Amino acid sequence: MRLKLVAGNWKMHGGIERNRDLLSIVISGTAGLQKTACAVCVPYPYLSQVQSLLKNTHVSWGAQNISQHDMGAYTGEVSADMLTDFCCYYVIVGHSERRTLYGENSRTVSLKFKVAQDAGLVPILCVGETLEQREAGFTEQVVREQLDAVIGLVGVDALARSVLAYEPIWAIGTGKTATPQQAQDVHVFIRNIVASYNVKVAAELRILYGGSVKASNAAELFAMLDIDGGLIGGASLVAEEFISICLAAQN
Ligand code: PGA
Repeated sequence: MRLKLVAGNWKMHGGIERNRDLLSIVISGTAGLQKTACAVCVPYPYLSQVQSLLKNTHVSWGAQNISQHDMGAYTGEVSADMLTDFCCYYVIVGHSERRTLYGENSRTVSLKFKVAQDAGLVPILCVGETLEQREAGFTEQVVREQLDAVIGLVGVDALARSVLAYEPIWAIGTGKTATPQQAQDVHVFIRNIVASYNVKVAAELRILYGGSVKASNAAELFAMLDIDGGLIGGASLVAEEFISICLAAQN
């Protein structure tokens, strides 16, 4: 039985006061969750604040990116050790916005996955195709390439200490959600790839869906057998929406 996870991806949103208000409502609104884990991945400058607001609560926290390097002359970058200094539990790697806007390729993403894990962080590895790739029938090929790069570097057993997120790029921030069946099909495809190496790791791997998940569509997505929760962008910034999504995962 896989424990569901709902993780907020705040992207480049937030503010000291806003974070405080949002998190205090989220903490109390999700206090009754038992079969669902809840987390927020926040911009770097707020890690300290979020750590102090969330420590000793049931909500975990993490970052949205990590450097593949340990330390050194990498202006603007943040290392794994810096994230563990703020007791991050998760870090998102390979989000499509990093891949498309900042030129991260599958090799870079797998290096980031590795440094995160080596530091004890749990990477949330994002994979997913563009609209053109889907329409051309390349969804499986794209997802396989993104996943194989990571498995090739760290080995399939390392996936046991990670979370996957299938995020079709055409559904991110567009209001267009994959249908539950479209998402389920790709989740099964991902799980089968992992199972071809290690059945146990595949059975226990949490695969989240991300892309315009809202309170109104979360329940039908989470009802699918291989959808183990969600990576939530826009809706994670609205306390009531985020709480409803967490509750939908619980049911
Ligand atoms: P969205 O973003 O929920 O706003 O579509 C999801 C994501 O990018 O992780």
